[in-house]
Amino acid sequence: MNPPSTRVSIIGAGKVGSTLAQRIAEKNLADVVLLDIVEGWPQGVALDLMQARGVERHDRQIVGTNDYIDTANSNIIVIAAGIPRKPGINREDLIKINAQIVTEAAKQAIAHSPEAILIVVTNPLDIMTYLAWEASGLPKHRVIGMGGILDSARFQTFIAMELGVSIAQVCATVIGSHGDLMVPLPRYSTVNGIPIAQLMDAGAIDRIVQRTRHGGAEIVGLMKNSSAYFAPASSACLMVESILLNQSRLLPCSVYLNGQYGVQDIFLGAPCRLGYQGIEQILELELSDAERAAFQDSGKLVLQSIEEAETILKNAG
Ligand code: LAC
Repeated sequence: MNPPSTRVSIIGAGKVGSTLAQRIAEKNLADVVLLDIVEGWPQGVALDLMQARGVERHDRQIVGTNDYIDTANSNIIVIAAGIPRKPGINREDLIKINAQIVTEAAKQAIAHSPEAILIVVTNPLDIMTYLAWEASGLPKHRVIGMGGILDSARFQTFIAMELGVSIAQVCATVIGSHGDLMVPLPRYSTVNGIPIAQLMDAGAIDRIVQRTRHGGAEIVGLMKNSSAYFAPASSACLMVESILLNQSRLLPCSVYLNGQYGVQDIFLGAPCRLGYQGIEQILELELSDAERAAFQDSGKLVLQSIEEAETILKNAG
C-alpha cells in the first residue's frame, strides 16, 4: 500500500487559489485539492495543471472538486475563497460577503480535516483570519493569516529596485495589519545585514514605505478588475513550505495576539516561526514608541472591523 500522501486543500479556485495550486504542485510540496462552488471550474483548472505535468514532470496529483469530502485529511487547508478587492466594492461589502464565505469554508473544511493547519488568504485578511479561527474551533497556533510575507516581499522589491541590488540580499519586515495601516520596519530591513538607513536617505525610505503600504491598491488601480495574485500565491506557498518541510522559518504572519505588543484578542501581523505544528513561536520585537503606536493603531482598526463583521454575521442569522 502507498503511504498516505501529503495533501493541501485550497478553498477557492480563483486566481490566487489556482496559482497557489500550481506553485505547490510544481515545487513538489504536496498533492493539491482545489475546491470551488462553481461547477466544472476547479475540475477544469485541475485538469489543466495535471496536463502541465507532461512538461513539468512532477508526480503530484491535482484534483478539482465542488465537494468538501474530497478535501478530507488534508495537512493544510488554505482559504482563498471570496471576492477580491476591486473598484466599486467598498470595505463594508467586502467584509459582509467574505465573512460568510470564509466562516462557512472554515467550518466545512475543518469538519473533514480536523488535524489540519488553516491558512487564510481572503481579505480583509486579519479580520477573516479571526473569523475563520472562531468558526473552525481550532487551537490558535493552527490558524495563520497570509499578509506580512506579501507586504514584506513588496518592501523588499522596492528596496532592491531603489538601490539596484539583488533581491536575494534584501531582508525586510512589515508587521501590523494587512492594510493601509501596516507597519513597515526600516530599522529591521537590511541589504546583506546592512540597515537600509545606511544605504539610502530618509526621503527614499519614506517613499518606499508609502509605496509598500499601497502595494495592493497600486495593482488594483492598474488591473482594474483584479487584485494581485502572483505575489500573494508565492507568499502563501512559502507558508505551506515552511510548515510541510518543518523549516521553522521566521516569517511575518497574521497570528493570534493576546497581550503581545500590547494588543488583545485579535489576529495581527507579527514575526513568527512556522513549522509542522503551525506557529511555534511569536517573536516580540523591540519597537520604538512610534512603531509601537503605529502597530497598536492598526490593531484598533482590526478590532473595530472584527466587531463590525461579527454583527453582520449575527444579523445574517
Ligand atoms: C494585496 C491584496 C490582494 O495586497 O491583499 O494585493
